[in-house]
Amino acid sequence: MTETMKSRAASLAHLRRDKLAVGDPIPLPLTMAAIYHAPGDATGFNQYGRFSNPNWAAVEEMLGHLEAAPCVAFPSGMAAISATFFSLLKAGDRILLPSDGYHTTRILADRFLGAFGVTTDVRPTSSFLDGGFAGYRLVFVESPSNPTLDICDITAVAEAVHAAGGLLVVDNTTMTPFGQRPLELGADIAVAADTKAPNGHSDVLFGHVACRNAEIIAAVTEWRQNAGGIPGPFEAWLVHRGLETLELRFDRMCSSAEAIAPRLKAHPAVSGLRYPGLEGDPSHNLARAQMERFGFLISFDLGSEQKAEDFINGCSLMHAATSFGGVHTVAERRLRRGDAVPPGFVRLSVGCEPTEELWAAMKDSLDRI
Ligand SMILES: Cc1ncc(COP(=O)(O)O)c(C=O)c1O
Repeated sequence: MTETMKSRAASLAHLRRDKLAVGDPIPLPLTMAAIYHAPGDATGFNQYGRFSNPNWAAVEEMLGHLEAAPCVAFPSGMAAISATFFSLLKAGDRILLPSDGYHTTRILADRFLGAFGVTTDVRPTSSFLDGGFAGYRLVFVESPSNPTLDICDITAVAEAVHAAGGLLVVDNTTMTPFGQRPLELGADIAVAADTKAPNGHSDVLFGHVACRNAEIIAAVTEWRQNAGGIPGPFEAWLVHRGLETLELRFDRMCSSAEAIAPRLKAHPAVSGLRYPGLEGDPSHNLARAQMERFGFLISFDLGSEQKAEDFINGCSLMHAATSFGGVHTVAERRLRRGDAVPPGFVRLSVGCEPTEELWAAMKDSLDRI
């Protein structure tokens, strides 16, 4: 971790310190309020629950501290992505999405943006630069892509997109601001599902938009206020609490994934393993250059649906579940979500369990399939 990020990680849990009066609770109080005491001119304080909430403000301050950019909180990662699209695009615009990224982003564009006159093209992450970006109002990158973990050169894409007059949005869900810093790499906007590692306990959905352009932040904030897709105060409170331990959890998860990926790769039942941290992985050199860590997701093929199901269900320290980034190790056979992968393709999200115990449980299950 860079010195700057170490210092940000250290001060993360102390951001409220200077605002406390004697006797105030040190943990963030939960404010459940649709209305506020609002006499006189309605400016400069909380008015109504769709406009603002102290728990949103606190979680946005934390996210902003990590992103080093203003952040707007949303009730899910998809709500953050929708707000970005619907507040910035207009009829006649053309956008580019990864063909191998999170499938719901493509569904959103196909099913809804098209009806408003926005045209969508797709391109594989590993060859994202090929073909250039002329004519695109907005280019959307997911690197590493979920679930195949391909990578594209964010700095080179940002330069080319800007030269063509477009905006670059990076979905940083798989990495968090501790693992990759899209805005510093040249992206205009970073979006993320804080449902994953930032909250980390798999008990809430959440998302955010981070951006250093005040007009864009104003547009997504206005979208949230008027479209009405707002985060619940309790969800914001939970994510605020989760963020206090993100650095610790992310470090354990990435370190365990780095230890486990080569052992999985060497196991005879495993083929096609992808992990950006492995020397020889097609993503490795670029990952070294642009990522702070290699992440906690590993993907591989176990040859058949039955073997993949047996591995996942037979491992005592793994849950069969979609999603990733939580304290529990989980895995999913991604064909069941409709991704373009073989039946035995598994996406593994390494959790916070002690590394050697986790590996022993995985090996035991693999040896039995
Ligand atoms: C890369 C990526 N982006 C966005 C999302 C959407 O997040 P949410 O489920 O919180 O809407 C997901 C969810 O899995 C994801 O994997």
